[in-house]
Amino acid sequence: MNILLLGSGGREHALAWKIKQSTFCDALFVAPGNAGTNALATNLPFEDDDFDAIKKACLQYQIKMVVVGPETPLVKGIVDFFEQDKELLSIPIIGPNRAAAQLEGSKDFSKQIMQQCHIPTAKYATFTAANFNDGITYLKTHPLPIVLKADGLAAGKGVLICTSTQEAIDEFTAMLQAGKFGAASTKVVVEEFLEGIELSVFIVTDGINYKMLPSAKDYKRIGIGDTGLNTGGMGAVSPVPFADDTFLKKVETQIVIPLLAGLQKNNITYKGFLFVGLMNRNGEPSVIEFNCRLGDPETEAIIPRLKTDIVTIFQAIATSKVGELKIEIIDETAVTIFLVSGGYPNEYKKGLPINNLMNVEGSLVFHAGTTLKDQQTVTQGGRVLAITSLGKSIPEAAEKSLAIAQQINYEGKYYRTDIGHDLI
Ligand code: AMP
Ligand code: GLY
Repeated sequence: MNILLLGSGGREHALAWKIKQSTFCDALFVAPGNAGTNALATNLPFEDDDFDAIKKACLQYQIKMVVVGPETPLVKGIVDFFEQDKELLSIPIIGPNRAAAQLEGSKDFSKQIMQQCHIPTAKYATFTAANFNDGITYLKTHPLPIVLKADGLAAGKGVLICTSTQEAIDEFTAMLQAGKFGAASTKVVVEEFLEGIELSVFIVTDGINYKMLPSAKDYKRIGIGDTGLNTGGMGAVSPVPFADDTFLKKVETQIVIPLLAGLQKNNITYKGFLFVGLMNRNGEPSVIEFNCRLGDPETEAIIPRLKTDIVTIFQAIATSKVGELKIEIIDETAVTIFLVSGGYPNEYKKGLPINNLMNVEGSLVFHAGTTLKDQQTVTQGGRVLAITSLGKSIPEAAEKSLAIAQQINYEGKYYRTDIGHDLI
């Protein structure tokens, strides 16, 4: 069958790479894609949330399945759009509908569901312009640090960790009264700060049954030793050694099972991949966030460990047969290292030629911020390439990825040399 994948990052290149290996895939299209997906599939020149263009492409290219990589089209209701359109109704689209995607699209909704289902998470309160003064009073007695979250999607920038009460009051005011994050911050969640080690767990679900995918840890800060500014992710490791069977069982019984039941109670059927962002607090999981999609860069570490044909996973979601699905995982460790542009996450140059990309052996290089200019692959974003290697241990896999990171070249190349070190 012909498949259309929406998105343009490293996550989508990893998904495209895996989909292309499926016995069920004839032609693969990616919209808008990048230079990496262009080498495996046909890139289509429209945005991943341009619903009309998506519909046109589905009809023009006889698409029989659509896979949604990023959150924006899901939160905007791409799944509902398909279900409500006579010509698209029969095409399975992999991802949650608008109501279910609210788990990521509204932090307040996500906290309400967690509270209803008694899922372990940080204590919180939600404020709008209507109860602004109550919010200020609440902040004045809140222990430090204070976590402020814009309710809606804010391109990964909507979470602020404030170390003083004044900073929290200023930011809270900027969000609610000066539209700091636009419509996303017309509601603000004020949350207790959780101490611990972060990790992510991914599940596949048809709303009733679920299967666990491997755990992963993402490295968010730009600097070695997890210092400096936040980024979209500088690397990932899968599996996470401390996420052992006992810990993962707690994630299932305390989080996943009650969440799916709670959503059902609210007449919401969640279909697709669910990202559970967790804090491990002395062996006890607590939810930091839910995302309605796979993680980036976690996907680049997880997908290479997947033995199962990924299209059978998509089919199980679409036909509500996740209960019968068998997911096989390669028992090795994956370490992903991101090459980023000099200056990122602040200003950086674009359009720089990337050299030595062709000579990579034994590792996988997934493109994120790349494009083709006169047949030459050039940089196009802050996060440029994700290098993934498998090994028997974290150091073995990391060493392979680091060797490739040294080999690939472009002006201003930067990467972290310590991905996974904290887990050894
Ligand atoms: P999010 O946009 O929800 O992924 O949050 C961004 C990052 O902020 C998370 O990955 C955590 O590192 C951090 N964070 C969010 N909420 C909390 C919290 N309650 N306690 C500590 N760190 C948090
Ligand atoms: N790695 C974090 C995210 O995908 O949101």
